[in-house]
Amino acid sequence: MATLAFNRQEIAARLLKPALLEMDGISRAAVEAHYKLYEGYVSKRNEILARLGEVDLGSANQVYSELRALKVELSFAVGGIKNHEIYFEHLGGGGGAPDGAIAALLERDFGSVQAWRDDLKASGMAGRGWAWTAYDWDELRLFNYIGDAQNTFPIWNATPLIALDVYEHAYFLDYQTDRASYIEAFFANLDWDVVNDWVARYELEV
Ligand SMILES: [Fe+2]
Repeated sequence: MATLAFNRQEIAARLLKPALLEMDGISRAAVEAHYKLYEGYVSKRNEILARLGEVDLGSANQVYSELRALKVELSFAVGGIKNHEIYFEHLGGGGGAPDGAIAALLERDFGSVQAWRDDLKASGMAGRGWAWTAYDWDELRLFNYIGDAQNTFPIWNATPLIALDVYEHAYFLDYQTDRASYIEAFFANLDWDVVNDWVARYELEV
């Protein structure tokens, strides 16, 4: 029987929600191009796992080895998948003020929804790839984290609930270098019902 370590099953890209092609402020062309990048992460993840099945473990080396290269780049591919699945899933909504449990959590952990928003926007301006609002299960609170690449800088035992993609591919087509305006469009298209579903699924207590 296969153990998890030997499970190299392929995964498929999730389908794009139709609402993502009808957003205000983030164009259909930008989303379609962005989705292709996501499909690329899925395909490379599958390819790397297949290659890992054949790799020579005896030649593992920290300076360079096939095992090292494959495992480092696997973290980039898997990060790209996870980040984008959150990103696409929680867009396509009406934005505005959050309600329900997520609103209460944001108020509790940031002081106010506006303070959370200001901090996430600034984190997005300061990051080179991502800013996430994540729940830290050890500190039992939300925090806005920065990521530069798909595989930096995750915090163990924290669960992202909001994923703001600030790679240039996310906005250059619509906003050139005006990242701040793109971040406003991101907020305006957030689907708070999706985020509240995740809060319920993770059983986060306010
Ligand atoms: Fe992206």
